[in-house]
Amino acid sequence: MTAIIEVNDLVKKYGEHLAVNDISFTVERGEVFGLLGPNGAGKSTTIKMLTTLLTPTAGVASVNGFDIVRQTNQVRHSIGYVPQALSADGNLTGYENLLIFAKLYDLPRDIRKPRIAEVLEYVGLSEAGKQLVRNYSGGMIRRLEVAQALLHQPRVLFLDEPTVGLDPIARQAIWDHLMQLRTESDMTILLTTHSMEEADSLCTRIGIMHRGKIVAMGTPDELKKIVGGSATGTTTLNDVFVYYAGDALESSGGSYRETSRTRRAARRLG
Ligand SMILES: Nc1ncnc2c1ncn2[C@@H]1O[C@H](COP(=O)(O)OP(=O)(O)OP(=O)(O)O)[C@@H](O)[C@H]1O
Ligand SMILES: [Mg+2]
Repeated sequence: MTAIIEVNDLVKKYGEHLAVNDISFTVERGEVFGLLGPNGAGKSTTIKMLTTLLTPTAGVASVNGFDIVRQTNQVRHSIGYVPQALSADGNLTGYENLLIFAKLYDLPRDIRKPRIAEVLEYVGLSEAGKQLVRNYSGGMIRRLEVAQALLHQPRVLFLDEPTVGLDPIARQAIWDHLMQLRTESDMTILLTTHSMEEADSLCTRIGIMHRGKIVAMGTPDELKKIVGGSATGTTTLNDVFVYYAGDALESSGGSYRETSRTRRAARRLG
């Protein structure tokens, strides 16, 4: 396998605030890599640097073999990006939204229409494509944005909280699409999420971020093993998250970490 994302000692400062504090990791082609972490951990900032929207303060990184600072155009051609905040234009139809991106991505004129039809069909919006996006549900908008990010068949797809705010059925639809991408193509996916269930079922590997650092990394099972010890069978990804980032939850009120530890101990004891 070859690394398609390589991150070395990446740093981002906003003024004096170290939002991303010297992180390093690699993602192999075809992986679904999940960045987890409490609010403010630095996940979106990391994605924004890797998608060339923010310039790093220090460190180097490459995506699809291209340097994110010196080869921004090549990086942009290699990637699709679904931002954390909903980004589709409500005053346009789904089709028109896609057409803008088709032009932006420089898709040859003669393949724009068939390619748009293809991605609309893929996310189940063939009919809805003719309607104004302002009449879409949150789930439909998210699916449209995934379609948008897939238009130019990117090598790497970045998704910042792809299912936040979606009902369980809409969320399942997004998961199904991502699972399908994972099995049918060698596209690499980097996503962030606050849903442990999502991370557990979609991700081949996970990095847990906390206060700008990556504090743990591994497959979901590896992480559960580290945290759960002999009680691996009953350890959940939620336990892992709380173990590594629980003090952030504590400082935001409550003793979630303690509660979870007690519960885990109770399970361990039978
Ligand atoms: N444009 C900005 N200017 C100043 N500080 C910022 C800016 N964007 C983010 N930050 C700060 O940087 C830190 C990391 O923010 P970031 O958005 O990367 O976190 P996150 O892990 O994506 O959080 P969330 O789960 O809430 O989306 C936070 O403390 C945030 O307040
Ligand atoms: Mg974020």
